[in-house]
Amino acid sequence: MRLSRFLMLRIAAVSLAMMACALLLALWQARLNIAREERGATETARLFDELDGLESGPAGDMPAHLSALRQISAQGRLRHLQLQLQDDHGNDLLPRLPETSTPLQRGYAWLLPPAYGGVKPTTPQWNLQRADGRRFHVTLLLDPGSERSESLTDIAGLLGILLGYGALTLLAVYVALRLALRPMRKIIYAIGQYQRDRYDYRLPPLRLLELHTIGQALNHMAQSLASSQEARRRLDLQLRSLREDERSRLARELHDELGQRLTAMRADTAWLVRRSLGQPPLADVANALAEHCEHVQHALRDLLQRLRARQPYEDEDEPLPLHRLLHELVDSWRDMPDQGTRFELAMAIDEHAVGGDVALTVYRLTQEALTNIARHAQATRVGIRLALHDDGRLEWSVCDDGNGLTDPGQAAYRGNGLVGMRERVWALHGEIDMFATHPHSSRPGLTIRARLPLQPVSATSLTNDRLAHGEPDYPS
Ligand SMILES: Nc1ncnc2c1ncn2[C@@H]1O[C@H](COP(=O)(O)OP(=O)(O)OP(=O)(O)O)[C@@H](O)[C@H]1O
Ligand SMILES: [Mg+2]
Repeated sequence: MRLSRFLMLRIAAVSLAMMACALLLALWQARLNIAREERGATETARLFDELDGLESGPAGDMPAHLSALRQISAQGRLRHLQLQLQDDHGNDLLPRLPETSTPLQRGYAWLLPPAYGGVKPTTPQWNLQRADGRRFHVTLLLDPGSERSESLTDIAGLLGILLGYGALTLLAVYVALRLALRPMRKIIYAIGQYQRDRYDYRLPPLRLLELHTIGQALNHMAQSLASSQEARRRLDLQLRSLREDERSRLARELHDELGQRLTAMRADTAWLVRRSLGQPPLADVANALAEHCEHVQHALRDLLQRLRARQPYEDEDEPLPLHRLLHELVDSWRDMPDQGTRFELAMAIDEHAVGGDVALTVYRLTQEALTNIARHAQATRVGIRLALHDDGRLEWSVCDDGNGLTDPGQAAYRGNGLVGMRERVWALHGEIDMFATHPHSSRPGLTIRARLPLQPVSATSLTNDRLAHGEPDYPS
């Protein structure tokens, strides 16, 4: 259904209900008016009856007639008329009705003075002559105040009805709008998911055509983004795998070519050193040559280790020996000359459960984090931790107590290492964050933490996993 049609139908239905209520109120008011008219007419008839009794009835009934007349002339009972009754001496026998009192009534009387239709009203007066000689003087005055107060009540009633009608209509429109726009919460929720790069969320079909169209468009957009992200991830992984292959090839060539020759050179220099014993200038050169050879061999071993994760003799299909690799990596930093930093490595995972790409990523992340610490942190302690997180993912972290980073987002622009770490983690559907190890210290240090799936995930398995959790709670 279209939004405009839905709103119109709702508003029309509510307006009809409101009008029915207003009609009922108006009928109730008319009933009150009729009852008032009837009572006024009855009281007028009773007035003449009582006046007749006062004039011609027995003297003993006079007090009862006077009391009945007092009742009849009380406020508002004789509609639009006021009765005055005086004895022979001009004394009022009935209380005079008070003048218009409240400011509203006075203002209303000023606004609507008596009109009399252009003819000055007559004031009927007559005398009652009893047989016992007592006389009464009767005056019937026009009372415009009572008509005014009745019309004032009518206007107030009308205003009340209009106000109530307006307020209820507004309320109804508000409720109809809220109901109509309720599915917007789902749309806003979906947009929030996409803003957090969670493109696997899909909107369900929505009842209103316009919102349904928006929902379908968002679903389509999310689908395209998810596919292109997945394609980028695959490409990224392929590129990294190619780079790893290239690094392995280079390492193999270096190992086979230079490694063997260096070993031969070291054997030759050892022979030279032995033969030059007792020939000081020659012995010095031979010793220096032997030292250079040893140095180059160490440097080559170092380079080979950084270039590739596997030893040349290891089977490519076997899982990567993560424990050994990380231990060797950390040992190589511990063994650095003049190393003033303490390294602690804690691993609480089964390396056979970790996929090859994931293990390699963990290794490269650790390599970069340790290199950064050596270059930038001036840390005294470094902790490397690998554990299984509660959600079943692998949690890797490296923390140091060095200089720290005030703005990791900004720091990433200064080199390629941090950006590369983010990309590696992103390619595996993981998450990475960086924060101060000791936030309130003068040397806050840096902790880099990543959570990765144990095995590389496909986009469909992620979607199914999230869908299995059912409808999310939309914010209200
Ligand atoms: N552990 C750390 N402690 C303090 N600062 C760090 C740490 N790690 C990184 N940084 C800061 O972040 C910046 C970016 O690091 P990144 O690894 O991206 O680049 P880099 O190490 O300078 O160069 P490269 O591209 O060779 O890695 C560094 O220049 C450094 O200022
Ligand atoms: Mg770096």
